[in-house]
Amino acid sequence: MTQFVHPWRGDPETVGTVAVIGMGKIGLPLAAQYAGHGWHVIGVDVQPWVVETLNRGRVHFAEEPTLAERIAEAHAAGRFRATTSHAEATRDADVVVIIVPVMLSDTKEPDYRYIDPATTAVAGGLHQGVLVLYETTLPVGDTRDRFGPMLEAASGLAAGDPEAGFLLAFSPERVYSGRVFHDLDTYPKLVGGVDAASGARAAAFYRSVVPAEVWQLSTAEAAEFAKLAETTYRDVNIALANQFAEYAERMGVDIQEVIRGSNSQPFSHIHQPGIGVGGHCIPVYPHFLISRAPELTLPALSRQVNDGQVGAAVAALERELGPLEGTPVLVLGLTYREDVKELAYTRAIPLIDRLSFHGARVSAYDPLLTDEEVARTGAAPWHWGDRAPFRAVVVQTGARQFRSLDPAWFPDLAVVFDGRNAVRDLALPERVAYVGVGVPDPRAARRVRRTAAAGSGGRR
Ligand SMILES: NC(=O)c1ccc[n+]([C@@H]2O[C@H](COP(=O)([O-])OP(=O)(O)OC[C@H]3O[C@@H](n4cnc5c(N)ncnc54)[C@H](O)[C@@H]3O)[C@@H](O)[C@H]2O)c1
Repeated sequence: MTQFVHPWRGDPETVGTVAVIGMGKIGLPLAAQYAGHGWHVIGVDVQPWVVETLNRGRVHFAEEPTLAERIAEAHAAGRFRATTSHAEATRDADVVVIIVPVMLSDTKEPDYRYIDPATTAVAGGLHQGVLVLYETTLPVGDTRDRFGPMLEAASGLAAGDPEAGFLLAFSPERVYSGRVFHDLDTYPKLVGGVDAASGARAAAFYRSVVPAEVWQLSTAEAAEFAKLAETTYRDVNIALANQFAEYAERMGVDIQEVIRGSNSQPFSHIHQPGIGVGGHCIPVYPHFLISRAPELTLPALSRQVNDGQVGAAVAALERELGPLEGTPVLVLGLTYREDVKELAYTRAIPLIDRLSFHGARVSAYDPLLTDEEVARTGAAPWHWGDRAPFRAVVVQTGARQFRSLDPAWFPDLAVVFDGRNAVRDLALPERVAYVGVGVPDPRAARRVRRTAAAGSGGRR
């Protein structure tokens, strides 16, 4: 049985008050998780309508399973309220968790336009003994070298001083949107402090709010780097899969068969090739490394390969259809991935741009988006089941609904480009070509076999 104490100083079986800064797709579920473990939670956001909604016990987005129920319950139990005042929330809190995004600038540098003001506003309420935790993914060193001095300057207190100052630590948020609560309960929670006392207090906090193992790393930098390393690893892995897919196409080999075969060896974990990588995380965090460590050449090359997949898709359509000028094309799936209503860094936007640049008339559909939201991407909204003169369909997410697409809706259809290996089992009429990433074109395969038979062996 946990006991509510004030002030909270990290003792086992005790809970206190936590302020969560940023009530977004991750911050709000974190607030619900902490309240579910007995903490008194104050949610902070700059958007007054978000705060008003939360103070009625309601949530402002619906996609995270069980979130609405958890927030309603915490609110009814008096353990959750929201405010627009960082300083007021911080003054009442024993722990402050900052989960406000760091974005990428137009020059692909970390863009601190949201998190810097959040930090300064928190500093206005800092008091002796409070623990400040950054969960937002950061370049290595930022907790100590960027935010530590900002908090110190604005509060007059010293970081890493549990007696007279405040404690400061980093803990990467590693959850996946749509299954946040499952991931929080499962993945080891990494933490690293700017000093041992900060790390230990942060570890004590997480032990009180997640059943998963808590791993205290020796420094904030190690914890920051661990998140960048795990996400960059995935981007590099996908880039390799994309290059393998290109070679597989040329050799008349199916990349899915290759990956299944390779990954049957336990040390091989080849990811899936596709039309590109989207979302807040994987296409963004390699740049946090690249911007600080230009000697890391693989992440930059991988970004280039993965971003090039959209161009490769457009070129494949041109090979099938000839010039795209005036050609009606349907893009299926606009979010960065299926089942998550998030357009951040989605590859659908450059895809629509490139198709339009080549003169195609682009329509689009996404089961999660309204007509207005679709229109904002630059494509004309299409409605599921409408007959239309599309010559090409490009599948950009793996939404389950797309598997029940009926080619009879599109009498002029000539090609389906499957950017996510999602509609492979679709029964297509003879006249419609199926083009997948790393799926051999039967015509190319015949050419390879003929060349091999002639004894040249081809380019390998
Ligand atoms: N979304 C994911 O799948 C995911 C997964 C793992 C980790 N993360 C991490 O979580 C961070 C946040 O992601 P998200 O998806 O919750 O973002 P989000 O865009 O859904 O939410 C951000 C929230 O912060 C608020 N905000 C902006 N400036 C603020 C300020 N100065 N003070 C208080 N609130 C402010 C916004 O109003 C918004 O509600 C990411 O940057 C990333 O580091 C995200």
